[in-house]
Amino acid sequence: MKRIVILGSTGSIGTNTLDIISKFTEKFQAVGLTANGNVDKLEEQVRTFSPAVVAMADRAAAERLRARCKGLKTTILSGTDGLRQTATLAEADLVISAIVGGAGLVPTLAAITAGKFVALANKEPMVMAGRLMQEEARKRGVRIFPVDSEHSALFQSMEGHRVEDIRRLILTASGGPLWNLTKEQLRDVTVEQALKHPNWKMGDKITIDSATLMNKGLEVVEARWLFDIPASKIEVVVHRESIIHSLVEYADRSVIAQLGLPDMRTPIAYAMNYPERIPLDLPSLNLAQIGTLTFFNPDHDRFPCLTLGYDALRIGGTMPAAMNAANEVAVQAFLDRRIGFLGIAESIRRTMDAHKPVEVSTVEDALHTDAWARAKAGDVVNSLSAPAR
Ligand SMILES: NC(=O)c1ccc[n+]([C@@H]2O[C@H](COP(=O)([O-])OP(=O)(O)OC[C@H]3O[C@@H](n4cnc5c(N)ncnc54)[C@H](OP(=O)(O)O)[C@@H]3O)[C@@H](O)[C@H]2O)c1
Repeated sequence: MKRIVILGSTGSIGTNTLDIISKFTEKFQAVGLTANGNVDKLEEQVRTFSPAVVAMADRAAAERLRARCKGLKTTILSGTDGLRQTATLAEADLVISAIVGGAGLVPTLAAITAGKFVALANKEPMVMAGRLMQEEARKRGVRIFPVDSEHSALFQSMEGHRVEDIRRLILTASGGPLWNLTKEQLRDVTVEQALKHPNWKMGDKITIDSATLMNKGLEVVEARWLFDIPASKIEVVVHRESIIHSLVEYADRSVIAQLGLPDMRTPIAYAMNYPERIPLDLPSLNLAQIGTLTFFNPDHDRFPCLTLGYDALRIGGTMPAAMNAANEVAVQAFLDRRIGFLGIAESIRRTMDAHKPVEVSTVEDALHTDAWARAKAGDVVNSLSAPAR
């Protein structure tokens, strides 16, 4: 029996993970769950899974949950400390890191420091402090299993191969819902258009990241740290059907890929039960029915966020953390209809231009940059959203 903590249990990855747990109760038990402010969903999860502990980042929300769960055995914690305590629960064997954004850095790092194996969906902490997280994992003998479908595909395509033989990692990108639009059309894209992902059903933030291709920028940085492969060996190809989840090319030019219908339960289950595979009750891939798979080079001109990801990695230090924070602020401003779609890349670029990177020697270096970049990006967003005189 594997005892599981889910950081971000009320989100898209969190609920998919609980779906797997509910179908394999002989294999998994949810012992800790966390959310931000979604009291309704967390209460439902407490009643269904009876975890020992839950935590809500929002203290007022935790207070409401306590009132609703009176008489139940679950301990309800709150705030950053509550998240940290849940992430480091003594009885937990595996922590699913599925909070969205930089807010996941502190609890995920705490889990690693406490010696917990981690299944990582929450890519932003790896972008902010990848070197630090990997050093800590090595020190504690902890493994970090990728959940992101692309990184899970790379991980699976590397199994049984020598890292020295890798020539290239090729990340696939769906291109998102706006792939076919011209730059002029991108200027007027609405929130509804940008949220209509062709292949995946995900949280709002990552869906917008997919539309800008910043998701791929973040994933390039994530791959660099997860697999210790330099950026020069990481490439991106747009693959509209999201059937090939990523590929690895070896020295002899042999290319190994992982394929499957787009459903996050497959990579989540692989990370939860590695190296054993779980018999998931999902439709099988039927290649004859799909017929054609298409591939394109990414368009860095229309989708500059991918370039920003490579730039941040090349500059190094705290630059990826600055990029990530600026992206979070800009995406929220777009969702709030304060800036246009092209304003997202513009806000990130201006924030990065103003940032003076230093080494990420401690988690405070990343957190300090995160706070600085949020303030800076906030100013940029304000200037972009100010009504024209
Ligand atoms: N969704 C996918 O298919 C997918 C695929 C690959 C990678 N990922 C990555 O996985 C992560 C989660 O994505 P998602 O789509 O599942 O996001 P989501 O649906 O928006 O869920 C986010 C989760 O994080 C919690 N949360 C939000 N802000 C928080 C804060 N400040 N402090 C603590 N908890 C907070 C939310 O709680 P509330 O519900 O209470 O707000 C919720 O449980 C992201 O890093 C994303 O890039 C997702």
